[in-house]
Amino acid sequence: MPRGFPPNVKVLVTDPIADAGLDTLREAGHEVETAYDVEGDALLDAVSDANALIVRSGTDVTEAVFEAAPDLVIVGRAGIGVDNIDIDAATEHGVIVANAPEGNVRAAAEHTVAMAFAAARSIPQAHVRLKEGEWAKSDYLGTEVNGKTLGVVGLGRVGQEVAKKLASLGMDLVAYDPYISEERADQLGADLVDLEECLTVADFLTVHVPLTPETEGLIDEDALANLEGGYLVNCARGGVVDEDALAEAVSDGVMKGAAVDVFAEEPLSEDSPLLDVDDIVVTPHLGASTEAAQEHVAVSTAEQVVAAFNDEPVLNA
Ligand code: NAD
Ligand code: MLT
Repeated sequence: MPRGFPPNVKVLVTDPIADAGLDTLREAGHEVETAYDVEGDALLDAVSDANALIVRSGTDVTEAVFEAAPDLVIVGRAGIGVDNIDIDAATEHGVIVANAPEGNVRAAAEHTVAMAFAAARSIPQAHVRLKEGEWAKSDYLGTEVNGKTLGVVGLGRVGQEVAKKLASLGMDLVAYDPYISEERADQLGADLVDLEECLTVADFLTVHVPLTPETEGLIDEDALANLEGGYLVNCARGGVVDEDALAEAVSDGVMKGAAVDVFAEEPLSEDSPLLDVDDIVVTPHLGASTEAAQEHVAVSTAEQVVAAFNDEPVLNA
């Protein structure tokens, strides 16, 4: 153990991660405490003597958390999005924030494709009716993706995987991402366009941007009006798409349907307007929930915590 760090590192884990990650920490000699679903004062109390904190999307790591944890060295995010961590406060308190940017990319992309099909073929709706004994064959006439246009908002790791998968099923590609090069878009066979054109030409729009001040509310009522007759899939972050406007656009028939995995407030309130619209499919933030992805992100996050206390570089890998 390098000088400057405590002999017994205490790692607090406040969202469930795969056992392989917990084992990695214990094998390195760290004390691991799990406290799932703690919030408010209980979270502040639990973190008060922690040297490391590991979370997924269920824990809000606010300034108050950093203030309550004077011995905190690193926050590990077992996943990609760090919008639930106050990065400025972490910097102010000298705490490292490390995420796992690779491990769940395929899982998130596969869920996005599954959600596109779920919406386009009304699979969940027909499933529920058949389970209830109703043979509703004549009520469903779906949309094929073959020959249609996919609009990708945010052509990063997940967006590129989705683009490749749906291009292989016969879709044409357009993308909106002001930070990606024309060359990279060309390699994927995608036309880089502005947001309005992306929405206007897309039959299916998939969203893959992080939640930032710039992307919050990016897909609002006006944007959705441009997606007339189309489908929207959001497996990125709640808050990027205006949920009230989406519910209205689908229930009014402006759009054919939508599929949403992530919400501005999680868990989703039972009063959400999204739940009242039959052509909107919802899942409870399951994009990264595969065995392979969870093992990968848990181990990679644990390895970064171990590295931090070994005075090795934290690579965000
Ligand atoms: P990434 O950083 O590789 O890609 C994000 C892309 O968005 C980048 O290409 C960036 O240039 C682009 N972008 C940023 N701001 C933009 C803007 N204002 N307009 C258009 N494009 C913009 O991230 P990723 O690995 O592809 O993951 C994307 C997001 O997906 C994550 O931030 C996370 O919130 C979410 N995610 C969700 C799940 C889930 O469980 N549902 C799983 C994994 C990732
Ligand atoms: C992510 O950003 O990686 C996702 O939110 C996955 C998760 O932790 O559920």
